[in-house]
Amino acid sequence: MHFSSQAHSLTHTSAMASTLSILSFCSLLVLALVLVQSTHSAIIPEPKNSIAKHTTPHPSSSHLTYIVQTNHLAKPSKFTTLDHWYTSMVPTTSSRILYTYGTVIHGFAARLTDGEARRMSSVPGVTRVYKDRVYHTQTTRSPWFMGLHDDFGAWPDTDFGDGIIIGIVDTGIWPERASFNDTGLGPVRSTWRGKCVDAEGFNATLLCNNKLVGAKSFTVNLTVPECDDPSPRDYVGHGTHVASTAAGAEVPSADLYGFSGGRASGVARNARIAMYKVCVPDARIGCPGSALIAAIDAAVSDGVDLISISIGGDADDPFYDDPIAVATFGADRRGVFVVLAGGNSGPMASTVSNVAPWMTTVGAATTDRVFPAKLRLGNGVTLTGQSLYTMKSKGTSVVRLVSSSCLKDDLTPDKVMGKVVVCTLMAGAGTGFYVERAGGAGMVSQQWMDRFHDAVMAATFALPGVMISDTAGKKLDAYMSSTPYPVASFDFACETVTGENRAPMVAGFSSRGPSVLAPEILKPDVVAPGVNILGAWSGGMPPSSADVDPRRVEFNIVSGTSMACPHVAGAAALIKKRHGDWSPAMVRSALITTAGPLDKNGRNIVDSGTFVDGAPMDATPLAAGAGLVLPRLAMDPGLVYDARTEDYVDFLCTLNYTAEQMRQFAPEMSTGCGARTIPGGAANLNYPSFVVVFDRTNDGVRTLTRTVKAVSTRPETYNVTFAAPEGVAVTITPTTLEFKRKDQSRSYTVQFSILGKVRPPGTWDFGHISWENRKHRVRSPVAFNWQI
Ligand SMILES: *[C@@H]1O[C@H](CO)[C@@H](O)[C@H](O)[C@H]1NC(C)=O
Ligand SMILES: *[C@@H]1O[C@H](CO)[C@@H](O)[C@H](O)[C@H]1NC(C)=O
Ligand SMILES: *[C@@H]1O[C@H](CO)[C@@H](O)[C@H](O)[C@H]1NC(C)=O
Ligand SMILES: *[C@@H]1O[C@H](CO)[C@@H](O)[C@H](O)[C@H]1NC(C)=O
Ligand SMILES: *[C@@H]1O[C@H](CO)[C@@H](O)[C@H](O)[C@H]1NC(C)=O
Repeated sequence: MHFSSQAHSLTHTSAMASTLSILSFCSLLVLALVLVQSTHSAIIPEPKNSIAKHTTPHPSSSHLTYIVQTNHLAKPSKFTTLDHWYTSMVPTTSSRILYTYGTVIHGFAARLTDGEARRMSSVPGVTRVYKDRVYHTQTTRSPWFMGLHDDFGAWPDTDFGDGIIIGIVDTGIWPERASFNDTGLGPVRSTWRGKCVDAEGFNATLLCNNKLVGAKSFTVNLTVPECDDPSPRDYVGHGTHVASTAAGAEVPSADLYGFSGGRASGVARNARIAMYKVCVPDARIGCPGSALIAAIDAAVSDGVDLISISIGGDADDPFYDDPIAVATFGADRRGVFVVLAGGNSGPMASTVSNVAPWMTTVGAATTDRVFPAKLRLGNGVTLTGQSLYTMKSKGTSVVRLVSSSCLKDDLTPDKVMGKVVVCTLMAGAGTGFYVERAGGAGMVSQQWMDRFHDAVMAATFALPGVMISDTAGKKLDAYMSSTPYPVASFDFACETVTGENRAPMVAGFSSRGPSVLAPEILKPDVVAPGVNILGAWSGGMPPSSADVDPRRVEFNIVSGTSMACPHVAGAAALIKKRHGDWSPAMVRSALITTAGPLDKNGRNIVDSGTFVDGAPMDATPLAAGAGLVLPRLAMDPGLVYDARTEDYVDFLCTLNYTAEQMRQFAPEMSTGCGARTIPGGAANLNYPSFVVVFDRTNDGVRTLTRTVKAVSTRPETYNVTFAAPEGVAVTITPTTLEFKRKDQSRSYTVQFSILGKVRPPGTWDFGHISWENRKHRVRSPVAFNWQI
């Protein structure tokens, strides 16, 4: 979910919620959901204990939700339908079946006791029974920043993605927002099978239109019944924001309190939106895997062209234990492209999630917009941070600074009255309300634990406040410890400064490779704008996402890989419009091989989470993938690396999956993999990027093969170029590829070998391979890993 400063304030506010009723607590927990998603659980204490204190015990705690995957091909003939068969399996009453799946997987979810689940797993025809699990949700100038132009290129060429249907699996939608106005759009295509479902407070006839063509909630029958929500309405803001980023209509004038003002547009502004709501406020439930499968199943069966999922789990859940991986495999098999957020657990290595090769995995980058605000210290030093302070004043007088944890108990009038509070724990705009309540004059919050550095996420402070970088925080600390009476004043410019910062930079919080599950598949694939993104917002959630905040806004500015993901969904919609017959892998290949590794000034994209001597390092492909998605180039990639279901089956076999595990993905594989595998290992999957591991088994020589397919109508010849780290020899055969016509495929092999000195085990290094001619450049990042 949005990795914003406001998220962190939630820790504090949820701890204060002792007197709330269960229902309002349920909605407050939305915030906890933000928090949990947006932080690394190993570092930030999860608010689980405080939640448990305030909720009633589980009504039927002996029953848990289980996902039962069946082999529909093995249905006993005495049952006429799959439903009959499933009902027969569930003890006592069929009413405990929560979801039935029939498109991306077969099976159902049901509330079962441990014993029932165990017995059911040995029923003939049942592939796997496993416990449900919890997932969490992980402008606007950003489309223009990605190089889109109103008058030429990808936008007019595709009629802005008109008619493409994007399925969004998220927290729901606030349909009244201007981004979902369908003026000028024709009817949805007649083959569309999705619909908007009426619910209390959601009159589908009134609220759905030619923009919002589907809306359904899968958040019913949850383990905490008070949180059941049959309405697709979004009370969180996340889903509304994501939907407007992918396919929001053009809004001539949008802003948040004057910030980021201007024309707003989704990346595919004429594409249509189908919302599948899967997340609920209670953090223990979050976005249940059982609901995620149901939503993906429904989206594919409704006929969406692609699916955007800004939700993630742990980086180390095996694919067979991960309902998102299992369900999206089925979506890919049906030709549906899926794009997912890579997670907000950076900048530590091996944190990226949603890493299956049939997924397109997106990291977050900054854009060229900042919201500067100044803190002038008593020693004459001025610190510049960012603020979305709503401007009751242009500045403040000089007042005392006081340091505080900014937890509620520490924000007492005797401590903070008339002072500016410097929070030692990261706190957001929500905390500002407690500072104000205790008479505080303002607050300063720091980006947290060296993770964000200078790519500051701005917060919607309602009192004078600023978010400062880690570097600025160190200067502030030094000043505060140098004098017994530290003082400062604020200076708010109240402006949105465009084009003066270095951009894009990889956001510090963006999760990093290598992938734990499949280290030989380079992830994330690409980055897209995900810091301080303006998008439509829910009328049920304040801009700070804090319960104490009475404000409501039409647009909000938030950050996260959740915000980056729908930018790529929009780009994919434009590609699908132009190339309706492309497989999901071809779309992904186009996005990867045309992505930009350079920033707007032609320098390498830097990593705002990795500093050496105060300067950001160049972002590696483990942080940035192939670089920033550039839709205008992705429309015409020249060559693509294709892969189909059989290739992913081979890939899973290469991971040594058992027959049972394989059947979860491919029910027809009754006897398992046998001799199936990718010769040479997972690195030989026909993926548009490379990971080269030098280890003892290959003696420092690795030979990989790839096949590229021409997608241009004209005959073309390509020459290869490459870059490799010192000490690695690269031999590519052949060095020229000739294509006489569209759809022709050509293979090449690359031999990578270590020359001379071996690097220390665990070292990573990087290069690229690029097939080029005057018209096209088909570039693949290469990551080298020494394990020898
Ligand atoms: C699920 O919830 C609906 C109401 O939203 C209810 O009618 C139905 O009986 C519930 N199903 C189960 C299995 O509890
Ligand atoms: C949709 O946009 C049109 C054109 O800008 C405007 O006239 C109309 O009032 C809008 N509809 C809604 C429901 O806001
Ligand atoms: C939804 O709105 C339509 C049009 O105003 C109205 O006819 C219908 O009765 C409403 N449906 C519900 C369930 O309120
Ligand atoms: C799969 O098994 C083979 C043979 O035992 C082994 O060499 C290989 O390392 C295994 N692969 C993985 C990913 O565990
Ligand atoms: C490929 O390289 C050869 C030799 O340098 C050159 O003659 C040819 O024009 C190049 N072709 C393309 C498509 O760049």
